[in-house]
Amino acid sequence: MKRNGLILSAAVALAACATVLGPVDVKSLRGADAATPDQAPAVRQQLGAKPGNQQTIARTFEGQPPLIPHATDNFDEVTLADNQCLECHGEDAYKKKGAPRLSDSHFVGADGKRQQVADARRYACTLCHAPQFDAPPLVESTFKGESGKK
Ligand code: HEC
Ligand code: HEC
Repeated sequence: MKRNGLILSAAVALAACATVLGPVDVKSLRGADAATPDQAPAVRQQLGAKPGNQQTIARTFEGQPPLIPHATDNFDEVTLADNQCLECHGEDAYKKKGAPRLSDSHFVGADGKRQQVADARRYACTLCHAPQFDAPPLVESTFKGESGKK
């Protein structure tokens, strides 16, 4: 009996709220109409047009691939036949181009041994290295890195 009374008073309270607040405006991220196509996200500009002009972003933990401090959208895509990244960062090129050399870890094979040439698992540079973008964080982050290099 007591329980029924409770439910009844809850229902009365809810009804009172609905009358006071009026209909609630419920919206999904897509908008009210589910058939509306998703909005394409804003196109963001890559930072650092040419190598050497853009500040590097400090690494925040050990093992983090450094962000690329120069634009990459003006380079050819990395394909089996062509890898422009290696034309500046490769063993034979880095000195002449004044670019940092692929780090030692990139020469270690799956068997853990040091190889003469960079390991194939490191060929697709942009799988790990992302360019910097003019994109402010979407939400505030209080993350603090540990032992990042540089
Ligand atoms: C024309 C030469 C050139 C090409 C091509 C090039 N880079 Fe670079 N890169 C540089 C130079 C020079 C620097 C160092 C100066 C700077 O900070 O911009 C650099 C810096 C970097 C760094 C920063 C390393 C660190 O310690 O912070 C990364 C990562 C990188 N490049 C990745 C790439 C990738 C991936 C590609 C291919 C998509 C690429 N680069 C293509 C010249 C080049
Ligand atoms: C599987 C992920 C992965 C791939 C693929 C990869 N890298 Fe890296 N790279 C890293 C990580 C992690 C680091 C930082 C730790 C280290 O030095 O090994 C790094 C470091 C570097 C550095 C900084 C070297 C220094 O002296 O500090 C350069 C330059 C670089 N990579 C270029 C490249 C280029 C160019 C390619 C493609 C040919 C490439 N990387 C492919 C993960 C990767």
